[in-house]
Order: sequence, then structure tokens, then C-alpha cells
Amino acid sequence: MPAFQTSPGMRDILAPQSVRWRRFVDVFAEVVEAAGYGQLITPLLEDLGVFTRLGESTDVVTKEMYDFVDKGGRHVALRPEVTASVCRAFVEHHPPTPWKTWYAGSNFRYEKPQRGRYRQFDQVGIEVLGADDPYLDVEVIALGWEFYRRLGLRQVTLRLNSLGEPDDRARYVTELAAYFTAHHAELSPESRITLAKNPLRVLDSKRPQDAPVVAGAPRIADCYSDAAAEHFATVQAGLSSLAIPFTIDTGLVRGLDYYRRTTFEYQGGTLDSAQNGLGGGGRYDGLVEALGGPPTPGVGFALGVDRTLLACDDESVFVAPDGATDVFVVDTTGGAEALTITSALRAAGLRAERAFDNRSMKSQMKAADRSGASHAVIVGSNELEAGAAVVRPLRATLVEGQPGQSTVLRSDLVDHLVAHLRNSTS
Ligand code: HAM
Repeated sequence: MPAFQTSPGMRDILAPQSVRWRRFVDVFAEVVEAAGYGQLITPLLEDLGVFTRLGESTDVVTKEMYDFVDKGGRHVALRPEVTASVCRAFVEHHPPTPWKTWYAGSNFRYEKPQRGRYRQFDQVGIEVLGADDPYLDVEVIALGWEFYRRLGLRQVTLRLNSLGEPDDRARYVTELAAYFTAHHAELSPESRITLAKNPLRVLDSKRPQDAPVVAGAPRIADCYSDAAAEHFATVQAGLSSLAIPFTIDTGLVRGLDYYRRTTFEYQGGTLDSAQNGLGGGGRYDGLVEALGGPPTPGVGFALGVDRTLLACDDESVFVAPDGATDVFVVDTTGGAEALTITSALRAAGLRAERAFDNRSMKSQMKAADRSGASHAVIVGSNELEAGAAVVRPLRATLVEGQPGQSTVLRSDLVDHLVAHLRNSTS
């Protein structure tokens, strides 16, 4: 057992998974930048107050925050999500609206770690501040959908709800509280505690004991004002016109308190139900104001990188690249030849590796095979004397009937390999 290991719920991401991770963010950037979203990088650490606006009754704020007092006496926290930071940045920089941003990075929540649930986890997301248009909700949802499609995921489903205008929501919460209080005895002990803090979250309960009470609960749709109903109808019509399938789920309340009107969640088809929320979001029209800015509508989503990659594993899509280089240089003359050859190959745009510590020919050839490179360049004392090198296809690329290896003049080596590799990949 090593003296130190990663803290619970925190992980090292090694290659080639780390390469896949980076490509994941690249694909996301391609999708959202094509729609005019610009990247925003915010600090991992903010004043605690930025995040308490997420809702005093949410677990994220009350139980899971990594907060501490810094050496200057400031009460700060590691961000549990990015939406609040985006709103804080909006108030701080007052950019022109609509402000369309995307982000990628780590978040911290002190949760019970399990597969798909970590204490440090990554999200990619978008937020748009300053536009109220229901077609923007559609655009946001459609961009997340398109991203999953680009990854190759086919089993993701979309759940949609509207929490109405703030007044509708408040009326609904009152009705819901009265209903659940009347059924108090039938609820699970956990839901009774939730009821005291946030009646909406009782709808989220997955405990069988709560199912009948939850099934009979009042519906948010019955509390919609005309404006909320119209906004929601336009969102649904817009999604249908883009042929994006969705199901309405009136129980979809989501874990953070700031949502108003549209809320949505993308669910994976293969993960356990507790961790199948691949991503989600919605409208949060009050958050900028709560952070000291002017009344500003907002809408966005965040997608969990960790969970989405687990879903990719389960669907065998977006696999990790093998990370192999093109050429492995074997030098049994001391290593200086490998230095100049790898350097020249890399300058010509090829991926080139070499062995170190002046190992034997056998050991270097083994390393070359293990590297996954398609070709070895071999320099022994004969080649050194002749100003040449041997180019040998390695196991993976050796095709029956084709010449096994050739001797190439050092002055032609780079051009030879560039031409050869280009032909074999085209
Ligand atoms: P959230 O539902 O808390 O929303 O998180 C979004 C996604 O982050 C989840 O669907 C999940 O995939 C991932 N996630 C959350 N917690 C964990 C965890 N402990 N381990 C692994 N993955 C996790 C938000 O964060 C909102 N800021 C989304 C939003 C943006 N709403 C409007 N704009």
C-alpha cells in the first residue's frame, strides 16, 4: 500500500483516457463554437456567497460544499458547479447580451463516491444570459443533443419539464407541501426530512415507499400561468420541429433551487438509475439578480464528463485512442543517432519515439513493438558507417507479400517516411 493515494472520490486520469478526455472537450467546443458560444474560464474558487445563492435548501450548499476560510480571512469555496460563477462574471464584466458562453472543468461536491459519482468531477456546459426567447431554450437543448450524437451515443433520452414562472412555482410548492403533509405518515423517513426543507425534492424520491404518494401529487402543469404555458408549448414545438424526441416528466425538479420555467435532463440508457443523469439544465431567470446584477434571464446546461464517458464505454462509442506513435527509432550505436532522427521526424510532423539507456537490440525492438508504432527505424554500426538506416514495418503493419524492410540513405530518411506513412494512411 503506497503512503499516499488519491482522496476518496478523486481520481488520476492516465493516458490514453486523458487523451480521450481532451478530445471530448474538443468535440464539445466544436459543436458550441459553431453556434457562436465563446469559452469562459472562471476560477475554481469563489467567495462562498456566490454559491449559497444556488439555494439554502439544496444538498449542494448545505452538505457538499468544500468551503474554508483562506489565509486572508475570506470564506471561500471550491465551485460545486459553474452556472453561479458565470452569473458572477456577468455582473462583474457586464458584457453585451445575449452573452453566450461555454466552459469545461472540474467541480467539487462532498458526495458519497460510487461509480459515476465523484467528489471531483468534470462538466462541460453552456450558459446564455440576457435572452428570454423560448427558441433559445430549444437551441440550448438541441446543442446538447447534437453533442451526444457526435460522440456516437444512441441511447440518450431527453426529459423535459417546466417549473412555471416564479409565482406559479411558489403556488405549486405551497400546494405540494399541503399534499405531502396530509400524507406524512405514508412517506419514507428520508422524504419527511426532505419535505421540511424542500417539498419539490420529494418528487425526486426513488424510494418505493414514496412512489404511491408521489404518483398522486398535484401536477405543476395545473399551476402554469398563461405566459409559462405558452413558453413551454413553444419549447416543445421547437424540439419537435428539429425531430428531437423528448418525454414530459412533471416530476423533473432537478437538484438546484434556481430553476424557473424550462428544465431538462439527458439520461443515459445504460447506467444505474441513480447515476443515469448525464447532464441537465434549464432556465434560471433570477440568479444574476441574486448575485447583485440587473434582472437578467439565463438558460444553460452542464453535462457530466465522467458519466458521459461511462455511457460511451457502455455503448462502445468514442473509444480511447491507442496513442501510438508513427515511428520508433532503434539505435544501438549509443543513442545520439536516435536523438537527431527523432528530432527531424517530429519536425516533419511525424510522431516519433525512441528507447533510452542504450539497451540491447532485442530489448529496443520489443519496446518498438509495444509502442504500437507502425515502423521502426534501425541504426546499428553498419548503417552508421554507410550513412543509412533500416526502415522495418512492425508487426501491426507487416502485410504479407510486401517487402519486409528496406535500407534508406539518411539524407532521404525523413522524406521516405513522410511519403510512406502518408500513403499508408490515405
Ligand atoms: P447538475 O445536475 O447538478 O447541474 O449537474 C450536471 C451534471 O453533472 C449531472 O447530470 C452529472 O452528469 C454531473 N454530475 C453532478 N454531480 C456529479 C458527481 N458528484 N459526480 C459525477 N458527475 C456529477 C448543474 O451543475 C447545473 N449547473 C446545470 C445547469 C447549467 N443548469 C443551468 N445551467
